[in-house]
Parts: sequence; structure tokens; C-alpha cells
Amino acid sequence: MTPALRNLEMTILGLGFLGLAWGKNKLHGYTTPNRVEKSDEEGKVAYLIDIFASLRRFLPPHVDLRGRDVLELSPGASRGNGVLFLALGARSYHAIDVFDLADGEDSAVYDKLLDRFLEGREADRDRARTIARTPDAREFGYAVGRDFDIPRLAQGRSFDLIVSCAAFEHYDNPAQAIAGLTQVARPGCDSVHIIDLQTHSRWIRERDPNNIYRYPETIYRLFRFPGQPNRQRPADYVRSFEAEGWSDIRFVPSRTIGSTLREASLRGLAAPFADRDDMSILDGALTARYPGPRGSWEAAS
Ligand SMILES: C[S@@+](CC[C@H](N)C(=O)[O-])C[C@H]1O[C@@H](n2cnc3c(N)ncnc32)[C@H](O)[C@@H]1O
Repeated sequence: MTPALRNLEMTILGLGFLGLAWGKNKLHGYTTPNRVEKSDEEGKVAYLIDIFASLRRFLPPHVDLRGRDVLELSPGASRGNGVLFLALGARSYHAIDVFDLADGEDSAVYDKLLDRFLEGREADRDRARTIARTPDAREFGYAVGRDFDIPRLAQGRSFDLIVSCAAFEHYDNPAQAIAGLTQVARPGCDSVHIIDLQTHSRWIRERDPNNIYRYPETIYRLFRFPGQPNRQRPADYVRSFEAEGWSDIRFVPSRTIGSTLREASLRGLAAPFADRDDMSILDGALTARYPGPRGSWEAAS
């Protein structure tokens, strides 16, 4: 097949997938934050341990979680990361989301997680277990709001570490979310955000990972639904963090398009994306630090 024909084929197929994602959302709303079935507890535990390891991999080496207050944006179906932060000595964990996906989560999952996660001190793991079992514990918070007003949903808290995974690409207005998280960041706060930049629909993602970037904004937005990938690229996120005064901002790619698909994936993209030099990045992590001496919040509080 000629390259031009392949582009055409992927563009037409991709439209079908955009329509399917839109239709699924209209019928069921935002229900499946990841590929683990709700009933699959083992799968959930394995997924959480993997995500937590990824987040930690991107933390600056000097970061000590002990005594820290952690915010997770958009945890999806589980606050398991929070249990693991507490198990490593964090003072508190708070999660904020726009959809109420983790409400009523069975605390048995937290026990299973802690049975598997044997790092840190036993006393901290015991404390994590107790806190996670205590209804409405302030050290293990969860707040949901469709406006995603981060300062309001933080309920008076401020944080030393702010993390998210597979969340930023879903935000309607990432710059506004970054402005919001900046308001609750203490001086010296670290931020780690794992961001999935590629097409989300499963079949086409494997064959044409940049498919969502083939469409002009007007066409793409015809299929808009809450949580539709926003098509921001690493440089866009970096600019928004810079605008809010963050420093040491880096986007570290985790995966790029493999050699067999690369050429075809970079060809035939819509105007805003065709000339960018970062279009082979599939996902990665943005890390940043809010200026101020680390630990200064202790003196201030
Ligand atoms: C793919 S899930 C990731 C969930 C979890 N962090 C994980 O790794 O499994 C995307 C998350 O973004 C949230 N989200 C989706 N659309 C959003 C929006 N427009 N504004 C804010 N959050 C949104 C969802 O509620 C969900 O928690």
C-alpha cells in the first residue's frame, strides 16, 4: 500500500474510533479509567504497584517522602497510591478528581496492597493500614468536583508533592489545572505527572499511535466528550508550568514510536502537529519544582 493510501485508510478508520469513543461516553459516561476490570482485585493490586513504581522512578533522588503531604490528581478507580505513599512515611495523602470513580472502594484492596508492598518501616505500613480503614480520615482525603477547582477541592490543605498518572491528557484546560495546583503547592513542592500522549482507542493505537493528531481541531472537537484527550504536547505542558513560576521543568519521554511505525506515524498529521519535532513521543513524565527551599513549609506552618 502506498503511504498516501495508508494515511487515508488510517484517517477514515480513526474517525470511526473517534465516533465510537464519543458514543460510548454518551451511553455510559466516564467509567473505565484503566484496563483493569473492577472485579479483578489481583489485577488492580499489580496495576497500582506498577504505577507507584513509575511515579517514584521520576521523583528527584533527594525526595524523602517522610512527613510529606501528597496530592494526587485524578486517581481514577483507586486511592491505592495514597496507601503506598503513607506506607513510605508520608504524613497525608489527598486525592482530587472530576469523576467519582474511587468512591466506595473496598479497603480490602489496601490490605492486599500492603501485604504485597514490603518497603519502608513496618510501623508506617501499620499506620497506613489504620488510616486507610478509618472512614473520612483527614490524612487520606478524597474530593470530587465537576468544576475541577483544585484549590477548593484541596479543602484548605497544601502539599509538598503533587502527582498524577494518565490524567493531564484528559483535562479540558490543563493550564487552568496547573494554575490551580500551583495555588496549593508549598515552596519547594515537587510535581510528577505521567502523561500519555498517544491515541487512546485500543485497536488503532497499536497501528497508528498518532491517529488523534491527524484531524484539524474543528473535526476533532465534533467528537468532544468530557475526558477526550486534549492533544497537548510536552512543550505545551512545559510552557504552562513555566507561566506559573515552576522551575527545573523537564519532560522525560518514556516511550517513542518504534522504527517500523515511525515514518508512517509522522506523515499526514494536521497543521498544528505536522511541524513539531516531538511527535514521536508516546508518553513520558513531566517533573517540576516549585521555587523555595525544600522544607521551608515546615518553618511556615
Ligand atoms: C485514564 S484515567 C487515569 C486514572 C488513574 N490515575 C490511573 O492511572 O489509573 C484518567 C483520570 O482523569 C480524570 N479525568 C477525566 N477527564 C477529566 C477532566 N476533564 N478533568 C479532570 N479530570 C479528568 C478521570 O476521572 C480519571 O481519574
